[in-house]
Amino acid sequence: MHVLLTAGPTYEPLDPVRFLGNRSTGKMGYALAEAFAAQGAEVTLVSGPSHLPDPASPRIRMVRVETAAEMYAEAAKVAGEADVWVFAAAVADYRPAHVAMDKIKKSGETLTLELVKNVDIAATLGQRKRPEQFAVGFALETTNELAHARDKLHRKNFDLIVLNSLRDAGAGFGHDTNKVTVLDAAGQIVNFELQSKADVARGLVSLIMSRLAPSL
Ligand code: CTP
Repeated sequence: MHVLLTAGPTYEPLDPVRFLGNRSTGKMGYALAEAFAAQGAEVTLVSGPSHLPDPASPRIRMVRVETAAEMYAEAAKVAGEADVWVFAAAVADYRPAHVAMDKIKKSGETLTLELVKNVDIAATLGQRKRPEQFAVGFALETTNELAHARDKLHRKNFDLIVLNSLRDAGAGFGHDTNKVTVLDAAGQIVNFELQSKADVARGLVSLIMSRLAPSL
């Protein structure tokens, strides 16, 4: 079984020393890579900038990238041959329209940045997902969580979507623990209690594997 995983944030450069990014650490994605490898899967882990060390398992091939465009290009290279896609990355939705060649100098009292939309990696690959392939997305919502997650699942052609809880202390960005709810296209829901990201990852991997075609 071959798993394609995206993880971590993306950094979108503004000039040679600055970027737009987010607080994702990559912990959930790296834990998923380890959990899939422990089940015997071959994993391609396409990771945005993360301070985490490369996972030790020889079954995990690390591909380090910076921007959403690079993450898409690397993911697209292996998507066709991967049985399972897991999109755990916190991809920047927009990037600066212009990347300055030199460091931007301070001038006026305000500075306006023009941003342009990035490629949606999950949605773009989702358009060419074959019936036997299985895609899992993540969502972080602050309002109407279940409705938005359900909509995202259909829009991006996911088989499962993992909804991160923002309401619980200890869950989400930077923490070592997480609390998630998983939805499928039929509307079925599985709740995971607050636990370590490694345990959440093991639970998600066994849930995903139980949903795969028996031939894998
Ligand atoms: N995703 C992606 N490429 C993007 C944006 C998101 O692959 N450019 C993936 C994420 O890895 C995640 C899922 O899509 O699995 C949901 O991401 P999210 O940012 O919540 O979705 P958006 O479509 O950006 O919706 P929103 O309007 O809530 O930002």
